[in-house]
Amino acid sequence: AAIAEAPATALSVVPAVPQGPKDATILFGSQTGNAQRLAGRLAEKLKAQGFDVTLSAMNKFKTNKLKEVGYLFILASTHGEGDPPDNALTFYEFLHGKRAPKLEGMKFSVLALGDTSYEFFCKTGADFDSRLAELGAERIVDRVDCDVDFEDAAAGWLAAVSGAVSAAPSAAAAPQGAAVLASPAAAGESEYSRSNPFMAEVLDSLNLNGRGSDRETRHLELSLEGSGLTYAPGDAVGVYAQNDPALVNDIIALLNWDANEKVVTGKAGETSALREALLHHYEITVLTKPLLEKAVAFSGNAKLAELVKPENKEELKAYLNGRDLLDLLRDFAPWTLKAADVANLLRKLPPRLYSIASSIEAHPEEVHLTIRKVEYEAHGRDRKGVCSVFVSERLQPGDKLPIFIQQNPNFKPPVSPETPVIMVGPGTGVAPFRAFLEEREESGAEGQTWLFYGDRHFVTDFLYQTDWQRMLKDGVLSKLDVAFSRDTEEKVYVQHRMLENGAELYKWLENGAHVYVCGDEKHMAHDVQSALLTIIGQYGGKSPEDAAAYLSALQEQGRYQRDVY
Ligand code: 2AM
Repeated sequence: AAIAEAPATALSVVPAVPQGPKDATILFGSQTGNAQRLAGRLAEKLKAQGFDVTLSAMNKFKTNKLKEVGYLFILASTHGEGDPPDNALTFYEFLHGKRAPKLEGMKFSVLALGDTSYEFFCKTGADFDSRLAELGAERIVDRVDCDVDFEDAAAGWLAAVSGAVSAAPSAAAAPQGAAVLASPAAAGESEYSRSNPFMAEVLDSLNLNGRGSDRETRHLELSLEGSGLTYAPGDAVGVYAQNDPALVNDIIALLNWDANEKVVTGKAGETSALREALLHHYEITVLTKPLLEKAVAFSGNAKLAELVKPENKEELKAYLNGRDLLDLLRDFAPWTLKAADVANLLRKLPPRLYSIASSIEAHPEEVHLTIRKVEYEAHGRDRKGVCSVFVSERLQPGDKLPIFIQQNPNFKPPVSPETPVIMVGPGTGVAPFRAFLEEREESGAEGQTWLFYGDRHFVTDFLYQTDWQRMLKDGVLSKLDVAFSRDTEEKVYVQHRMLENGAELYKWLENGAHVYVCGDEKHMAHDVQSALLTIIGQYGGKSPEDAAAYLSALQEQGRYQRDVY
């Protein structure tokens, strides 16, 4: 309606005043695809407003073009210890380096994605934001930092950016109101999404580990029938899990709350019984700094107020690590916290992403996941991974699980079926490679494939062993090297197998192979990367700098892709 009421003159005025930039460059740094998807949404909006839009992964952008950019919009996520995503790394380094150009005349804004449970929340976005200003660019919309539940904050930023550029002189040339016509859903696209999950029936749930294993890994088969959902190898599924009922009960009992009291669970004022709300809607297993800061108002314990003071940063960090809401409530009594306050205090329970372990070509209307049960002890209590334990202990065949598909454009098999592929996926990191190889089995791709797999014990922990054997036999898998770390005196890991096969691995790289790494980021993926650098240095006769440049080039060409967590 607002569009229809716009004064007619607004359309007929031809601006004689100086034109603002008519181009907009949107750069994303995205690991799991969220920043990329939001960047796509901004691109559609700005195109509809008459802009000439360049949309690109940061690493694909030619930095010598930067000086010509009128509007620059950056969408970037942050990982681990404040690290930029893989496809932002070289751009990040360029912009923060000495060769970065002066950017006076550029207008910009940054959207940062992150997680408040990490110390370096949204650091990558914040770094871009301050650096662009330092280089002389003008910030036209303040940076927005999004927490895990990013949709609303991101939508606010998109609207603010769109508003800011249409207020600028250049946009007068754009057809007013065209934004409402933007982005028709692609034909055949499903109605189901992150905000409207599909209730997928559980077809099967198997423990992939053998008897006597100290691990439990679920192979979950879900039905997509009737959803219209599809996916490609490398994509992930987002799962909405349920919290541990025992933990929920303990929290309610501790504060003497009424489990049936209605509390708010949604933006539109939807309500649920407190017990349901804590089971399905709110995060109770992770503590964040903002949560503790808010909690101070409800605690009669002076120690909590002390802990959140800036000078106690290190103590706070140590406290947050590995503790949950029950710890907080036990440690800082007495509380004046009411059930109704839960809605203001807690974050929404975020969906968990799992790399898809199946090809939809091989299993029509199905999606398979590989989920390892996470259980450990910390601060004197047993801790359980929310989703993995829910799936392992409480989800049965026939149940319905709320899911959505998360496309991952940054983890895709080569376009050409001839291209050789090296896959490194210990533990549940092997999941997407089952999808890659099943897809090749279906399509009859001819390229060479090499899988490095590892886990603790050969006898009990060789996930999907029969699948790999079949694929070796039918030729879809050319080579398989395994490392079982606890069968021998000395630990052997996938990277050791890579190093042993260094000469051949380097030959594969020189023959155009793509390298994919999936699984644990902090240790495995890091060590695998070191092994790759060693191999490139040793067999390519390169200095450490040249080996690093070789691997960076592979990454930029999409020939070295990681799906790490
Ligand atoms: P470990 O638990 O015996 O140390 C899957 O979890 C496999 O990855 C296990 O065999 C595990 O070995 C191994 N792993 C642990 N740390 C690793 C690292 N830094 N690099 C590669 N593999 C690792």
